[in-house]
Amino acid sequence: ALVMRHRLKSSRQWGRVSAILKETEDQCATPIQKLRQVADAMHVEMHAGLASEGGSKLKMILSYVDNLPTGNEKGLFYALDLGGTNFRVLRVQLGGKEGRVAKQEFTEVSIPPNLMVGTSYELFDYIAAELAKFVATEGDEFQLPVGRQRELGFTFSFPVKQTSISSGSLIKWTKGFNIEDAVGRDVVAELTEAMERQNLDMRVVALVNDTIGTLAGGRYYDPDVAVAVILGTGTNAAYVERANAIPKWHGLLPKSGEMVINMEWGNFRSSHLPVTEYDHALDSESLNPGEQIFEKIISGMYLGDILRRVLLKMAEEAALFGDTVPANLSIPFVLRTPDMSAIHHDTSSDLRIVGSKLKDILGVTTTSLKTRKVVVELCEIVASRGARLSAAGILGILKKLGRDTISSSGTKERTVIAMDGGLFEHYTKFSDCLEKTLKELLGEEVAEHVVIVHANDGSGIGASLLAASHSQYVELEES
Ligand code: GLC
Repeated sequence: ALVMRHRLKSSRQWGRVSAILKETEDQCATPIQKLRQVADAMHVEMHAGLASEGGSKLKMILSYVDNLPTGNEKGLFYALDLGGTNFRVLRVQLGGKEGRVAKQEFTEVSIPPNLMVGTSYELFDYIAAELAKFVATEGDEFQLPVGRQRELGFTFSFPVKQTSISSGSLIKWTKGFNIEDAVGRDVVAELTEAMERQNLDMRVVALVNDTIGTLAGGRYYDPDVAVAVILGTGTNAAYVERANAIPKWHGLLPKSGEMVINMEWGNFRSSHLPVTEYDHALDSESLNPGEQIFEKIISGMYLGDILRRVLLKMAEEAALFGDTVPANLSIPFVLRTPDMSAIHHDTSSDLRIVGSKLKDILGVTTTSLKTRKVVVELCEIVASRGARLSAAGILGILKKLGRDTISSSGTKERTVIAMDGGLFEHYTKFSDCLEKTLKELLGEEVAEHVVIVHANDGSGIGASLLAASHSQYVELEES
């Protein structure tokens, strides 16, 4: 009788596990029709965001970049890349048409978590100190002409209301940052003051978002790059817009007739987005409730935590990990997206990587193959929703550019999308699914002309290229 009761209990539990699995799958579903609706909504919001300031959840920020790299950029420039859990400092020797990126050095420093939620003064002090260290140890092969100031391209990957190519105020923090006193302030002024405190003779000549840097870096190698997408800790996109298609801009029309737009698509939301109870809970417990909804469904900071939330429910309501709920499962962000990716990519027949990950992270010593399979299935559900929605976002941009169909004149312009970010780079099942979905959305014929490239570290190089084209010495050299 005991055995019978045990079997009955266990089969009921598995029934509950499958029910939650099925429910999650249904709520996360992204059939092609839904993706088209999302793309259309993105397209509509892009128009609204360009029409007037505050016209849409999509900020559609003017970057003041109206000229993308040509390949002629020359000289020694610095770049600072801040936007995730690490920041990087780069020194790039640009060699012009022939030399291209002749030399490059960089250092990567992780940001102490307390600084991500402290004061602006402390954060910028820390960064400027690292910059000063980097400069102090530079080798002789990097030499600036005498009397020339070091120039820096500052990649700051948060929403900034740009007031010129080299100034702008922080609209709000996103991702894991929350430094209240920095909001509304000019981030270039903050950095400049911190550099002065270090007696560092360096000047910020370009302030750019990572999407803008990636677009510039991508364009440097391929003139057909028109869109950049970041899929990393956060997610965002930028693209080249016609200047006369930006009604909210009352400034002078640039000679090129173009302007790069930082969409801040992470803040996109729409009734068409498939959201679950887990997304609602994640959002309301986040540092920025109600904000960055698209980002919270797609990007690397959150995917692992969505998975954790579903597993927690399965542990609590269906004893997925046995009679006790693993305590760690209640800790926000213990399950990181890289772990989720490792679990998802396990190809061993007994799913032993899944087993060891669950052991390391949750402390559950034994898991059945059945349990492991459920975990992998959940990864698939959560990751493919994010990947497919990213593809829909890209389709929205291609629509705005009129590149989602073969043009009536029959010309087949090539459109290149420069992508970067850890999620795109390392989570292969995610990027494969994204590419496959985009092809499906575009149809074979159009898909042939739309190319995704991995712009490896485009944003660092891009920032140094934009520093070069906005250098205070440029005119001097040209004359
Ligand atoms: C967040 C930021 C955005 C950035 C993106 C990717 O969405 O708000 O500025 O581009 O993350 O790093």
